[in-house]
Amino acid sequence: MLPDHIPLPPPYRIKVVEAIPFLSARERREAIAAAGYNPFHLRADQITVDLLSDSGTGATSTAQEAAAALGDESYAGARSWFRFRDEAADLTGYPHLLPVHQGRAGERILFSNLLGPGRICLSNTHFDTTHANVEMAGAEARDLPCAEAADLDSAEPFKGNIDLTTLEQTLAGPDGPRVGLVLMTITNNGLGAQPVSMANLEAAAAICRRHGIPFFLDAARFAENAWLVRQREEGYQDWTPRQIATRAFQLADGCLISLKKDGLTAIGGLIGLRDADLFERCEANLIATEGFSTYGGLAGHDLERLAQGLREVVDPAYLAARAEQTARFARMINDAGVDTVAPAGIHALYLNAGRLLPHLSPAQFPGHSLGCQLYLDGGIRSAELGSLYLGTLDAENRLVSPAPFELVRLAIPRRVYTEEHFAYVAAVLAGIAKDPERIRGYRIASAPARLRHFKVRLEPLA
Ligand SMILES: Cc1ncc(COP(=O)(O)O)c(C=O)c1O
Repeated sequence: MLPDHIPLPPPYRIKVVEAIPFLSARERREAIAAAGYNPFHLRADQITVDLLSDSGTGATSTAQEAAAALGDESYAGARSWFRFRDEAADLTGYPHLLPVHQGRAGERILFSNLLGPGRICLSNTHFDTTHANVEMAGAEARDLPCAEAADLDSAEPFKGNIDLTTLEQTLAGPDGPRVGLVLMTITNNGLGAQPVSMANLEAAAAICRRHGIPFFLDAARFAENAWLVRQREEGYQDWTPRQIATRAFQLADGCLISLKKDGLTAIGGLIGLRDADLFERCEANLIATEGFSTYGGLAGHDLERLAQGLREVVDPAYLAARAEQTARFARMINDAGVDTVAPAGIHALYLNAGRLLPHLSPAQFPGHSLGCQLYLDGGIRSAELGSLYLGTLDAENRLVSPAPFELVRLAIPRRVYTEEHFAYVAAVLAGIAKDPERIRGYRIASAPARLRHFKVRLEPLA
């Protein structure tokens, strides 16, 4: 046994590598201008360190690739489906499982059954596509984050929680009968990757049960939430991450999971249900829109990788190393003079761009400016989570109400980058933090009505 002060390295070594490009400053300037200053329009071969998303961007293991070779591609009843189903059933405890090609397909199928015009979906925070899918079902997506989430700097351990008082009041009040479901996002991706405590899940589940409202988990990062519960919540230190995750699933009536995160695969998703009628209705929709119930838009080799991924992701050594990697990255960034949302979660760090660039007003999109500068100075891709993403615009695309915070998300792909990549990003940030006044704001040139950040085009201000 090693002494406690010697941190364990990640429980894997690298066997296959992928080359990454290093463009010149002029090439980066031209690339981002041609992309309409929207990182979603950059080509992957123009990016040195890609922290746009942790979704589907992780590395698979040799065990997953070996399993993939056994993929059974039968149209119906494939062996790979049963391997995946048994693994997912054992983890979640749900009697009814439906595979989908990714998380948002599950959202669409579930919401078309539980929501509709005039209905409401309540959440600690809806993820962006989840929000869009609620609205596309004709319903309203309402976020009820806990009060602690408003302080970006506090060390509160569970800022991802739902506000239980407002949840109770809403369900007991005039809007109560319109609520179609309550959806808890674990961890809270829209709110600084902050975890949700088991106490909060238990209390929210009890409130929903009392009011007869379906209680669901959006469990894309079920293993990472479990790890943070084990680290931070009294009473869980002797539980395995898998036991904690299973307990969380047990509290809910069902789940939606984008398996592109904690499934450790490039593609995949899952709907888990207790209710047999709801299952039948969702299954009919699945067959019509995704594929037969034993593949749901996935290939047999994907199902095999997923079955193995679900086993690997709850390994305490893997989760400890991943959490420690993120914590070290946060310290490097803070030492570089840039604040991050505290305390550090696991799948992403959120830079406080509003504080770093106080000379830019929200209407000049400081988060977006910082994201562009990361690309211009270092070929680093990130995602804005500020007024460009969440603010309200008028018909001329001018900002009329800003987002509460101007943040930039650095998402951390699983098992992909090394300490040197993170040191590189921190060094680029240090360069920006030395002379932030040189950074200009942006204006919107064109924007779509929904899911603006994916397709918006911008121009730098003079
Ligand atoms: C919390 C959460 N829910 C749902 C989704 C949607 O999943 P997918 O991208 O697989 O459609 C995501 C994706 O990032 C997410 O983070």
